[in-house]
Amino acid sequence: MKRVFSGVQPTGDIHIGNYLGAMRQFVKLQDDHECFFCVVDLHALTVPQDPKVLKEKTIELAALYLAIGLDPKKVTIFVQSHVPAHAELAWLLQCITYFGELSRMTQFKEKSKGKESVSVGLFTYPDLMAADILLYNTHYVPVGEDQKQHLELTRNIAQRFNNRFGETFVVPEPMILKFGARIMSLTDPTKKMSKSDEDPYNRINLLDDPSLIRKKIMKAVTDSESEIRLDWDKKPGVSNLLTLYSLFTEMNVEEVENKFKGQGYGTLKKELADVIIEKLAVIQQNYKELSRDYVLSVLKEGAQKAEAVAENTLKEVKEKMGLILR
Ligand code: TYM
Repeated sequence: MKRVFSGVQPTGDIHIGNYLGAMRQFVKLQDDHECFFCVVDLHALTVPQDPKVLKEKTIELAALYLAIGLDPKKVTIFVQSHVPAHAELAWLLQCITYFGELSRMTQFKEKSKGKESVSVGLFTYPDLMAADILLYNTHYVPVGEDQKQHLELTRNIAQRFNNRFGETFVVPEPMILKFGARIMSLTDPTKKMSKSDEDPYNRINLLDDPSLIRKKIMKAVTDSESEIRLDWDKKPGVSNLLTLYSLFTEMNVEEVENKFKGQGYGTLKKELADVIIEKLAVIQQNYKELSRDYVLSVLKEGAQKAEAVAENTLKEVKEKMGLILR
């Protein structure tokens, strides 16, 4: 069975962009792949966090993994900091990554722009991500479009290591949807929907209640025309709403365009809100039924399973790089 690895940061609120772009794929992959899904708490530390909130968000994200339909009997769900091999391999990979490579990462450039104090961790973030993936000899990495550059760097690092020290890592392939890999903000559809946007109306969170979901959709930015069609250049707001409708109903976009032909934006928004509320209700109900103790027990077992695989890879890497084993 081919291996799959992906991670999500336990920061802010998990939104429908995270879900449609990445997490929903996790559920689809679990039946015919060996999957590892990680709550990447060490990545969260690259920008300041309130320690209490980070702890809560870590458990919340693990519970959401379960609530969207991941089955811990089929997949390994764990917290990144519970498996020390991640931080260790990240260091080793930093030693074969070039300063110039990390400087070219657009996510670093965006997140550090205009900030006075930027952590070194934010700079070396892609090495920790490469470590996450390479430790599990991952074949496929389901992610949204914004992670593409990090995946390319991961592939380069894996190839470089293999060339220098002998065949060790599987060179992973990104799995990025052709449609839906970049869900846009509801308030500014030229930007991606984001956990860190200050305006909460930019996104719909998986745990938003129905009335808030409806309010956010009704307020979503459209344009001054009235035609409902997919046109990202001229009509990014409407295109984003059409995309959401298509993804949530699993209808193709032409079908959705036809369905709403001749109708106003108000109708599209009302029906989209209905669909999102209905789909998220299932996740929210599952979420409510999960006890904290159960979630913690899943994470404990997950860390044990992940560690067994990760430690093996780490040992091989250390030996190949010239470190002596205990
Ligand atoms: P994070 O936590 O920012 O996002 C989690 C996943 O959601 C995707 N995503 C989106 N997809 C579509 N539209 C959007 N607007 C949108 N916003 C976010 C992201 O692409 C991601 O797949 N660096 C990663 C976490 C990570 C990771 C890894 C991922 C750490 N190690 C190893 C894969 C493999 C991140 O910050 O994702």
